[in-house]
Amino acid sequence: MPETYNPQLGREHSYPYEHREEERDWHWGMIININRCINCNTCSFACKSTWTSGKGEEYMWWMNVETEPYGGYPMGWDMRLLDDLEEGETIFEAAEDGEQAAGYIAQKEDWEYPALGDDQAHGEYPAGDVVESDLENDEYHDMWQFYLPRLCNHCKNPACLAACPRKAIYKREEDGIVLLDQERCRGYRKCVKSCPYHKPMYNPETGVSEKPVGCFPRIEEGNVPRCVSSCIGKTRLHGNINRGPDAGHPNGNTSAAAGRSPVNYLAKSDEKAALPLYPQFGTQPQVFYMPPYHVPPEFLTQMFTPNTNEKRNDWPGSTFEESIKIVQDRVRNPSHHTLGILQLFGATTRLIETYTVKEHRVKGWDRKGDKVVDIPFEEEMEIREGEMWTNQ
Ligand code: F3S
Repeated sequence: MPETYNPQLGREHSYPYEHREEERDWHWGMIININRCINCNTCSFACKSTWTSGKGEEYMWWMNVETEPYGGYPMGWDMRLLDDLEEGETIFEAAEDGEQAAGYIAQKEDWEYPALGDDQAHGEYPAGDVVESDLENDEYHDMWQFYLPRLCNHCKNPACLAACPRKAIYKREEDGIVLLDQERCRGYRKCVKSCPYHKPMYNPETGVSEKPVGCFPRIEEGNVPRCVSSCIGKTRLHGNINRGPDAGHPNGNTSAAAGRSPVNYLAKSDEKAALPLYPQFGTQPQVFYMPPYHVPPEFLTQMFTPNTNEKRNDWPGSTFEESIKIVQDRVRNPSHHTLGILQLFGATTRLIETYTVKEHRVKGWDRKGDKVVDIPFEEEMEIREGEMWTNQ
């Protein structure tokens, strides 16, 4: 098997196909700010009503929201696989002979509860202590939970693509979206077994599998996916994850800003504030999460870092757990620049290709180079001299 460099792991590992994904001009990517998610599932229903309302698709939630730490659809999808991996081992390295990736097929009963564990917090507390805490000694009870929106990651090393013996799954040249050709599919379900995020799903009515499509018809028209545009909490930003600081003007339009996309800044700049989900699987997922800042870092270390003992210079702390604390702090107390980008979340249904944050204004341009966002933020406040007027 060829070796591929995985920037999320900072090392090479085996992957069945050679590729240069980092060099694509355009690649589908998404940022989700977990702290804004209210588990309303508007994204889930927007996706379902658009893509999976047919026969045999009843259980297919291409977009779903799980309550951590107890939720999971299919049930226990992450821990079940993690238990089978050695520390730091990718699913490609852990593959059994004759297979391309380690994995398992979730059974019918695993798909029976899309909202299992919903709103269930972690931690125990004696009756009567729920709202009272010993403020003097700063002893708060240890309950916490958060919502984790989950969707296809349009990975740069897709396990579904690697595993299909029919080569029915492919990555689009123009945007890296991973699609399944149902004409070629024969229902072998290797894709279903290999995707560690369990997003390719088998349709018992048609005898072939289906997988999320990244809302490609909307992307082609320069719009964001439906889960992004429908999000009430304005949790999401979508765009070109590969557009780095050296990129030129979009569409050669010099009236638009040149340079990196806002999703690239949050996921890849020195100030990175968004992290991929379970990078240790090795698939290079392209949905990045701004982690919840009220959750114990050790839980998030397992979920959003390679979770090994190695030292990494491209992470801000000397350990992954320390790095998580730093990223949590960046999300809790965003820099002026990140605060500007946060205003772009949910600001337009157009796909924002480039942006600027200057003083107290953030602006965004689409792929054609047309301006689509121009909003003030952090407005200056003037405090007048003199006595306060009171109502006495
Ligand atoms: Fe291939 Fe999956 Fe169909 S493995 S044949 S795309 S069920």
